Amino acid sequence: MSESATSAPDKQAWRVGASADIPEHGRLVVDAGDKTVGVFRVDGRLVAYENRCAHMGGPICQGLIVPAVREKLNEAGQLGGSEFDESDMHIACPWHGYEYSLKTGRHAGKKSIGLRPVPVEETADGDVYIHV
Ligand code: FES
Repeated sequence: MSESATSAPDKQAWRVGASADIPEHGRLVVDAGDKTVGVFRVDGRLVAYENRCAHMGGPICQGLIVPAVREKLNEAGQLGGSEFDESDMHIACPWHGYEYSLKTGRHAGKKSIGLRPVPVEETADGDVYIHV
């Protein structure tokens, strides 16, 4: 389910909410015209993507936000388990599990696959706009 953005005087700018509505690793998913867009905060910055997975169009912006999983090597250079990397948050598609970097929108395993970015701005007054 998504919220509706409020159209600004500039017909291509849509107010999606207040800065405080999107804490670190938080999100808003909004309808703006004929598009649904997810807005996320990563490392203090806002990023936004169209809510269409590059695989088969699934609602990627409504997927789980999880840390990347890194394989660990032991002293002999052999696999020694795995660990979460909280510095690289991913979002996983709820349909078939494609995983993308939240920061870049690129697929975790194949960088040529990616989400469609949407320009997003945060004003000094604490409002968040997307441009679609
Ligand atoms: S539609 Fe997203 S993984 Fe298939």
